[in-house]
Amino acid sequence: MDDSSLTWVDGALTTIDQRGLPHEARELRLSTVDEVIEAIRTLAVRGAPAIGIAGAFGVVIAARAHTVDGAIDTARVEAEAERIAAARPTAVNLAWAVRRVLTKVGAGAQAMLDEALAMVAEDSRVNRAAATHAADLVQRLRPGRPLRLLTHCNTGRLATSAFGTAIGALRVLAERGAVTEVLIDETRPLLQGARLTAWELAEAGIPHRLTIDSAAAWAMATGQVDCVLVGADRITANGDVANKIGTYGLALAARHHGIPFIVVAPESTRDPNTATGGQIVVEQRAADEVTGFGGVSTAPSGTEVFNPAFDVTPAELVTAVVTECGVVYSNGESRGDNASRDIAAI
Ligand code: MRU
Repeated sequence: MDDSSLTWVDGALTTIDQRGLPHEARELRLSTVDEVIEAIRTLAVRGAPAIGIAGAFGVVIAARAHTVDGAIDTARVEAEAERIAAARPTAVNLAWAVRRVLTKVGAGAQAMLDEALAMVAEDSRVNRAAATHAADLVQRLRPGRPLRLLTHCNTGRLATSAFGTAIGALRVLAERGAVTEVLIDETRPLLQGARLTAWELAEAGIPHRLTIDSAAAWAMATGQVDCVLVGADRITANGDVANKIGTYGLALAARHHGIPFIVVAPESTRDPNTATGGQIVVEQRAADEVTGFGGVSTAPSGTEVFNPAFDVTPAELVTAVVTECGVVYSNGESRGDNASRDIAAI
């Protein structure tokens, strides 16, 4: 496997099965639409940009499967694309990427594959740009000394094609010698922080400690956090941010303690067609993710569960949204396409 976490090898999307990490790094080959959908639903492939790219290759797989005598059965491919886009509802990147590859259906399966491959390369470039803008902003807001940063879920190379978004910013800051420590929320219930972010930061040699989600506010209260950096699954037109469950609580605590709360994401995570966070469909997941772990039951059988995979942080709690274009929102106010020069006003 090369630098990218998602590659196309011999007619199949090839990636790492994130369910096995950190103990088992097994390769996953997805060569049917059903396999792509199952991988997205079960979080074998996860993270908004990564499921977008997987969805894009899923449409390519559909086109190859429904080509007869060189002609694509467009209606069949469109139906398959709809199924793929519905695999998870919250991250806008999935539907966006599926639509983008589908626009090439008239040009043939090879053109669709070329588009999906272009998206992989583009995602890597975009993440590096967003991460660098975010690192610049963090250092402007918190000048002069190495920083203690807090992050949630996993926004690294596993969640994207490469480099990561919020974790990308941590990488840039670490390269600049600006990181004392990253505090990683374990991220209940599926432990993306403990299993994936701790693994990625160890791999990158970035100092970190793992904590339980419910310790984050206390870490802020006791002066152990200079800045919070998270990713996003959908950013609505008014700047509301859907992200992994627990993000909203972090934003509330950060606001209370006067700590910058920064969202790092590609432009493809911005959804201008959804006005506010109230219109976002928040995925609800299975009860057994909460009533047990690793096959061991931890709650009385039959216990009812509330298990939203995401929450929505209102724009007014977000210090800034940073994309490859720079700072696009600060304190919920649109600053145009590249407003990083304006951030001194925050
Ligand atoms: O359910 P997940 O693990 O796919 O949720 C992922 C997140 O919430 C990430 O923060 C988000 O997708 C951004 S990844 C760059």
